[in-house]
Amino acid sequence: MPRKKKARREIALAEYVSRRRELSAFMDEGSIAIVPGANPKIRNGDVQYPFRQDSDFRYLTGFDEPNAVFVLIPGREHGEALLFCRERDNEHERWHGHITGPERAMQLFGIDDAFPVSDIDDILPGLIEGRSKLYYAMGVDRDFDNQVIDWVKKISQSDHLGAESPGEFVQLDHYLHELRLFKSAAEIALMKLAADATVKGHCRIMQKTQPGMMEYELEAELIHEFSINGARYCAYPAIVGGGANACVLHYVSNNEVLADGDLVLVDAGGEYEGYACDLTRTFPVNGRFSESQARVYEVVLRAQEAAIAAVRPGNTWNDPHEAAIRELSKGLVTLGVLSGNLSDLIGEEAYLPYCMTKTGHWLGLDVHDVGDYQVNGQWRVFEEGMVTTIEPGVYFNENMMEVPSEYRGIGVRIEDDVLVTKSGNEVLTDQVPRTVDEIETLMGATSD
Ligand code: GLY
Ligand code: MN
Ligand code: MN
Repeated sequence: MPRKKKARREIALAEYVSRRRELSAFMDEGSIAIVPGANPKIRNGDVQYPFRQDSDFRYLTGFDEPNAVFVLIPGREHGEALLFCRERDNEHERWHGHITGPERAMQLFGIDDAFPVSDIDDILPGLIEGRSKLYYAMGVDRDFDNQVIDWVKKISQSDHLGAESPGEFVQLDHYLHELRLFKSAAEIALMKLAADATVKGHCRIMQKTQPGMMEYELEAELIHEFSINGARYCAYPAIVGGGANACVLHYVSNNEVLADGDLVLVDAGGEYEGYACDLTRTFPVNGRFSESQARVYEVVLRAQEAAIAAVRPGNTWNDPHEAAIRELSKGLVTLGVLSGNLSDLIGEEAYLPYCMTKTGHWLGLDVHDVGDYQVNGQWRVFEEGMVTTIEPGVYFNENMMEVPSEYRGIGVRIEDDVLVTKSGNEVLTDQVPRTVDEIETLMGATSD
């Protein structure tokens, strides 16, 4: 029996239409917004990196092909949502795969008017002409910035009487990113699928890890599990750091041997339909925490628990960080790394050499997702539908001579993804063991 294609959950067309409507409502009358999609990027020679659509563009269109530009013109009589995209081309498609083309893009993506992207220089200046404001994310893509400037210049230099170029350029990001910060039910469903695949990957490696394996073997197991569960791409390069490599925050070499008696820190998440999961666990390579490792681990765990408890509507984005810092500082005293009065230590930020990061970041289409952390100089208040990571960590480098020697070379981070709900929060990645006992139990269990 032939296997049936697995159904994939996606954002419905109606939701894209309503996102565009919401963005239009933010925009001034008589304005235009231009949102370019991503272009293919060369890796080397004739090889490209896997294509990843620009998150803003994808959020507004759902269109996942390169070389496309979305244009929104609120109130335009012949349609507000416009797309420039590649034309069908049999020969190209024989080599490189399917192209949707402008006509089908209109039907499939609810676009009002679509044109070949090869005609953009001829068509777009005419659409910009007469608009008072141009919304565009200047400074992200220098080549596209120049194109926009050329189109505007073309209007000013045009010889037909009364040609008017926009009087004002406005950064689009703020409006759009405010929308992206609040996740709809459909987005949360996709984030849960990214989380499910990621949870499976982390559980798999806890069961497979053995002393003597290479860090990249764990990476391979993760990618395998993400992929077979529908998250074909990692949301960011996996960090698999054994021993002191865990203290390098963005360690991605992943090419060393995992030693008996060391911990390994694994920060890896899958991406499902563009939505990221971001998950870290730190566990013993041989399946048992040493007493010193467990002491450091428990400090981070308490900090994470306190921080997660502080994620709820009405609290500010910084409350979990403050809760984590309090527990981390207390723990650093217990471990004999810091000494003195707790409030003074917190006030002096004495923890900073060992806990260098903020406790979280927004999560969504981008792993470090968009959205302001402060509003008018005040920390943002949590509201239902926001998703943040909570990821406290302690990193004791081998050369930190003030740290008791039993702790040097230990790095621990525990990271989960937390959705703000109406009355509190939901941890999307809760199914990966987190306590010492839970981890040791799973690691003692054999895998297939
Ligand atoms: N994996 C990136 C981060 O945790 O922020
Ligand atoms: Mn993170
Ligand atoms: Mn992470």
